[in-house]
Amino acid sequence: MENSWIRFTVLVSGVLFFLFYVPVSNAQLAPAESRILFQVQQILEFPPALQTWNNWTSFCCLPHTPFLVIVCSNNHITELTIVGNKSFSSQITKLSPRNFAISQHTLSVKFSIDTFFTVLTKLSNLQKLSLVSLGLWGPLSDKINQFRSLSVLNISSNFIYGSITPSIATSQSLRSLVLSNNLLNGSVPDLKGLKFLEEIDLSNNHLGPEFPSLPNSLICITLGNNSLRSEIPRDFHAFNKLQILSLSSCKLIGPIPSFLFSLPSIMFINLAKNQFSGALSTNVSCNGNLTFIDISYNLLIGNLPSCLGSNTENKTVITTWNCLSNTTTKYQRSYTFCHKEALAVEPPARDRESSTLKLGIVLGIIGGIIAILGAFGFLALAFFRKVQRNRADDSKCDSFIIEKTSVHGFPIGNGRHVPQPMRLTSIGLPLYHVFTLEEMEDATNNFDPSNLVGGGFQDLVYKGRLRDGSVVLVKCLKLKQKHSPQALQQKMEVISKLRHRHLVSVLGHCIVAYQDHPNTSTTVFIVLENIANGSLRDLLSDWRKREVLKWPQRMAITMGIARGIQYLHTGGVQGNDLKTENIRLDESLTAKISSYNLALLSKGGTESPESPETDDIYRLGVILIEVITGRPINSQSELDDLKFQFERRLSVTPAELRGLIDPSIRGTFAYDSLKTVVQITMNCLCKDSSKRPTVEDVLWHMHYSVQVQEGWTGSGNLSGNLSGNLCRNLEHTR
Ligand SMILES: *[C@@H]1O[C@H](CO)[C@@H](O)[C@H](O)[C@H]1NC(C)=O
Ligand SMILES: *[C@@H]1O[C@H](CO)[C@@H](O)[C@H](O)[C@H]1NC(C)=O
Ligand SMILES: *[C@@H]1O[C@H](CO)[C@@H](O)[C@H](O)[C@H]1NC(C)=O
Ligand SMILES: *[C@@H]1O[C@H](CO)[C@@H](O)[C@H](O)[C@H]1NC(C)=O
Ligand SMILES: *[C@@H]1O[C@H](CO)[C@@H](O)[C@H](O)[C@H]1NC(C)=O
Ligand SMILES: *[C@@H]1O[C@H](CO)[C@@H](O)[C@H](O)[C@H]1NC(C)=O
Ligand SMILES: *[C@@H]1O[C@H](CO)[C@@H](O)[C@H](O)[C@H]1NC(C)=O
Ligand SMILES: *[C@@H]1O[C@H](CO)[C@@H](O)[C@H](O)[C@H]1NC(C)=O
Ligand SMILES: *[C@@H]1O[C@H](CO)[C@@H](O)[C@H](O)[C@H]1NC(C)=O
Repeated sequence: MENSWIRFTVLVSGVLFFLFYVPVSNAQLAPAESRILFQVQQILEFPPALQTWNNWTSFCCLPHTPFLVIVCSNNHITELTIVGNKSFSSQITKLSPRNFAISQHTLSVKFSIDTFFTVLTKLSNLQKLSLVSLGLWGPLSDKINQFRSLSVLNISSNFIYGSITPSIATSQSLRSLVLSNNLLNGSVPDLKGLKFLEEIDLSNNHLGPEFPSLPNSLICITLGNNSLRSEIPRDFHAFNKLQILSLSSCKLIGPIPSFLFSLPSIMFINLAKNQFSGALSTNVSCNGNLTFIDISYNLLIGNLPSCLGSNTENKTVITTWNCLSNTTTKYQRSYTFCHKEALAVEPPARDRESSTLKLGIVLGIIGGIIAILGAFGFLALAFFRKVQRNRADDSKCDSFIIEKTSVHGFPIGNGRHVPQPMRLTSIGLPLYHVFTLEEMEDATNNFDPSNLVGGGFQDLVYKGRLRDGSVVLVKCLKLKQKHSPQALQQKMEVISKLRHRHLVSVLGHCIVAYQDHPNTSTTVFIVLENIANGSLRDLLSDWRKREVLKWPQRMAITMGIARGIQYLHTGGVQGNDLKTENIRLDESLTAKISSYNLALLSKGGTESPESPETDDIYRLGVILIEVITGRPINSQSELDDLKFQFERRLSVTPAELRGLIDPSIRGTFAYDSLKTVVQITMNCLCKDSSKRPTVEDVLWHMHYSVQVQEGWTGSGNLSGNLSGNLCRNLEHTR
């Protein structure tokens, strides 16, 4: 009784729906397709819109709601739209492919996207398919091209990850492709073959870095919130039907092509929040139907073309937060901001010549690192060479060395102070890590200018905080020429191996390729350890801290610097911009060179080592003289003057020399120890670069000097009282 009443009701409502809602649908659905719908209901884990389906449901007659639309034609389903409540939202951050299966935001572990699409493709007449907010997870199935006549595909707001399957490019009948609000990454396959495509919406994914290759049949392009680190391609010229172009927050670079504004059908252009740079052409003409233009938050400079100049009744133009000069709004940044930021992202002038040269340098460095194994051999060699040179060359520069070495013989025979081969030095250094761009953006708060701590126009240095809380420096290097990914990887490998106790460690890197048709340009982010304890210059210019640095401490610091240089030079890395500002000291006063030449990536050619400005040995001499005198040297004449005085007094009495040194170290050094260091310092400062010692020579003299000092201390010259003070003072300055 009850049963027949229900049947009656269903019949009546069916008739009513037939009359009022779906007049075009055939009432009866092929049984096979009904079974498919029940399978869909089950696979989708009974979303609210499908919960009421049962054996008596007449699918083709269901009312259309915002959550469910089924349209039938000739007993076949032609449209299926299901909208769930498992909405994707950017608040859901902790999801990754590994935990989708257990998340309450997605379908369960039993769900298989491949099975799901296999079932759906049996609906062979399907033309419109929308599956929105259903919690679908997994990579986009390549079964997608097996729908024979699909023209609308909308799978937005799910958890589809991985790259877009290339098979989509063979779905010839597609008119609308919507994959927005998913977790898709990687490059978009070439879609130029989709001749009928009118709408594409891939917004809110992680797609990139190439700009997708799209057919010019498109009317509406929405790609916002992706990582298309590329320029707008020239072929947009031919997009005669394009009405809506929405490319905000895509990390796009390069100039805004002026033809965009005059495309024949264009109505809406949103290019906000990218990194577009340069000036807009002033003769831009705007299409008459263009009613909305947003170019805010870019790095544009120069004058605004007149057709973008003013908001009218029918036209909205948003130009804020660029560096434009004649806009009516006052919300613009300074020219230098845009200029600087643009350099950090802009593909540089094309320069294809010197990439082979670079490879040579890399091979040289690899060779150099192998040569490190022979460090001992080098050392011995340096010795003999020096002894020979000392005999042959009696110029003023070398004259100081002769007497000392000939009097005291070879302290290296002792072996105790011989520099250790490099194999020992990486012990205790932090691990190397390859970072993602997202990690770099997080660390530096999206490269916020307030985190900028230094660097020139070519390399910006940001302070940043990694996810583990550690503070680091992020150096952003724009590569000058094209590198193949392999060559670059090889170079980074070399850099990752440049690790030494006396170098500020490179903790990792991140390589980001920007597309610049037809080239690829690259930015490398180098993550450096942040040694927060200050520079050698800070220490020397603060009298209380200087007081702490007695002669033995100063020797240890300068020897550390020399060891760092030796390591770099054996690796072929010259021109390391050595100065006391660039020597960082950690808590235990271990010196670390912070400025070593990472430019092997970006510089065109190596600078001449002859120039005192760049020669490491000369610069080491300057550091040594500052350490000995305890005063920063600010000019060449100051330096020349000091050098002259030292040279004059060296040959006279000990008392004379004492007059020049830092009063803070008086009484803490053995005279011969100091004198040896002064002598080698004078040699480092030789105008003639060929007369300057090698770093091995310098180290050898320093070891000798340390030995003399230790002998002196050992015989009770440096009182225990004083060492006690030293420790306490060190504690004090921390
Ligand atoms: C529909 O009918 C079949 C048998 O004809 C039965 O096995 C199935 O459980 C029914 N399904 C529902 C949802 O009532
Ligand atoms: C979705 O709807 C179902 C049934 O109405 C409900 O139990 C569930 O909590 C909803 N989920 C969300 C995320 O709103
Ligand atoms: C995708 O489908 C949903 C549900 O029908 C709809 O709200 C949304 O507008 C569609 N997206 C596009 C870009 O058509
Ligand atoms: C896409 O993301 C997955 C992890 O979700 C990752 O393994 C893969 O490398 C990414 N692909 C690209 C091209 O970034
Ligand atoms: C990009 O993401 C932001 C923040 O999630 C959102 O406000 C904006 O609407 C998104 N843009 C597009 C084009 O979807
Ligand atoms: C703008 O001027 C340049 C040269 O001055 C010319 O090459 C270009 O075609 C002009 N563009 C338009 C849209 O008139
Ligand atoms: C503006 O659009 C209409 C149709 O939407 C078209 O007929 C007209 O030619 C367009 N005007 C211009 C200046 O392109
Ligand atoms: C900006 O200056 C250019 C050239 O001087 C001029 O063509 C344009 O109309 C000006 N724009 C505004 C908004 O004043
Ligand atoms: C704005 O558009 C309306 C019709 O959409 C038109 O009548 C009016 O003339 C336009 N105003 C201007 C200033 O172009």
